Amino acid sequence: MTIKKSNRDARYIIRLFPELERLESLDIRQKVIEAWFRALERSHWEDIESVPFVPNYPELRQIEHTQAATLGSIKLAEVIREIHGIKVNMDFVIAGANLHDIGKLIEYGKTEKTYVGQLLRHPFIGAHLALEVGLPPEIAHIIAAHSVEGETSGWRRSIEAIIVHAGDFCSARTFALAKTGKTTAQLLQEAGER
Ligand SMILES: [Fe+2]
Repeated sequence: MTIKKSNRDARYIIRLFPELERLESLDIRQKVIEAWFRALERSHWEDIESVPFVPNYPELRQIEHTQAATLGSIKLAEVIREIHGIKVNMDFVIAGANLHDIGKLIEYGKTEKTYVGQLLRHPFIGAHLALEVGLPPEIAHIIAAHSVEGETSGWRRSIEAIIVHAGDFCSARTFALAKTGKTTAQLLQEAGER
């Protein structure tokens, strides 16, 4: 089932991302779904399944990366909780991982970066969307800090942001290398990263 961007059907988002049913907070779940609809409406894409991980590599779809990063982050969070006895907010991990790359819908057009994407990478676009739909700042923080921006000196990632960063990079790096023989740094450079 795919939908045209004008058709807002929450079941479409849940079918793509069944992990969202594990969110305890229905309020967070509804806002996550709303963020996907808004991103899709503002993008060049008709459906989420067509969005690539980076332009020019349609075989690397964003959807599988998001699913792997979310499931990986959930498993990591369980280990950290059970083995280290560290308190982890699982709703923040699930929502933050699911939305960590939502900004890519707007960052990239079909073949290259959009103007907005050149000015604001996907972590900024995604964090803005999260706050705009009323998600807690802890979730916007995970999105904003998941990538290289999170290494900025003086900016400390939360426990949940450290977990999602690890889940994200593990999926991105293995999947890019196995399918293209290239590192994510090479792919991003080709996609117009500065
Ligand atoms: Fe990612």
